Amino acid sequence: MDFEEVYKKERVTRKFTNRKVSDKLIIKVVKDAQHSPSLLNSQPWRAYAITDNALENFKKESQKRNDDGVEPNEDFASMLSLDWDTFPSQNMANMGAAQAYFFRNKIDLFNKSNYEMFNAPAIVFLTVPKVSPAWSVFDLGIFAQSLMLSAINNGLAVMPAHSLVSYPDLARKYAGIPEDESVGMAIGLGYPDRGAQVNDPKFFPARVPFEKIFKLSK
Ligand SMILES: Cc1cc2nc3c(=O)[nH]c(=O)nc-3n(C[C@H](O)[C@H](O)[C@H](O)COP(=O)(O)O)c2cc1C
Repeated sequence: MDFEEVYKKERVTRKFTNRKVSDKLIIKVVKDAQHSPSLLNSQPWRAYAITDNALENFKKESQKRNDDGVEPNEDFASMLSLDWDTFPSQNMANMGAAQAYFFRNKIDLFNKSNYEMFNAPAIVFLTVPKVSPAWSVFDLGIFAQSLMLSAINNGLAVMPAHSLVSYPDLARKYAGIPEDESVGMAIGLGYPDRGAQVNDPKFFPARVPFEKIFKLSK
């Protein structure tokens, strides 16, 4: 696919069809992501994919926790500050307002799609060692983006979601993640359900004006 096209297609998908993703494709996109740069080539990332029974069981147990009102306990929330500066806070507030405006009273579509884990047929958990500097989290972000761009280039749709790592112990249990790794992020992979309202392409979370994020000095 043309590179510009890959970038344009990088929108999140909150509902996938039941079509499975082949193991071969999952392996390919993770392998592609290994090309990512990292501080001193530290390559702190690891990727753990779940599909089929492992995913179904992970989902069932996560949903039960959710139904029982168990508070999410993400690894990164305990590792990093939860404070946000005004700039990202404002952007998140704008995103919330845009959702409420576009979907009117159907905002529960978003909660439902998160609860259902987007019906993703494959989930890839991304980790870094628990003992990690901020650099490693930065490197993991690059790795995640490489993985997603490769996935899109290979005809998949992507759903990066912190809601998928609400209960890291369950990710550990079903994906075989060791105790000494932080479950940072997860990415759902699959094929988009184009008829699903929650995937309406007209809902496009705006990016802030370019001049707010860029300055060129000479
Ligand atoms: C690190 C990260 C975590 C995210 N977590 C969630 C999530 O838990 N639930 C969700 O619905 N969307 C989640 N998103 C998707 C963002 O809300 C989405 O990327 C943003 O609103 C811009 O939309 P777009 O990617 O379709 O342009 C996450 C995205 C990233 C990069």
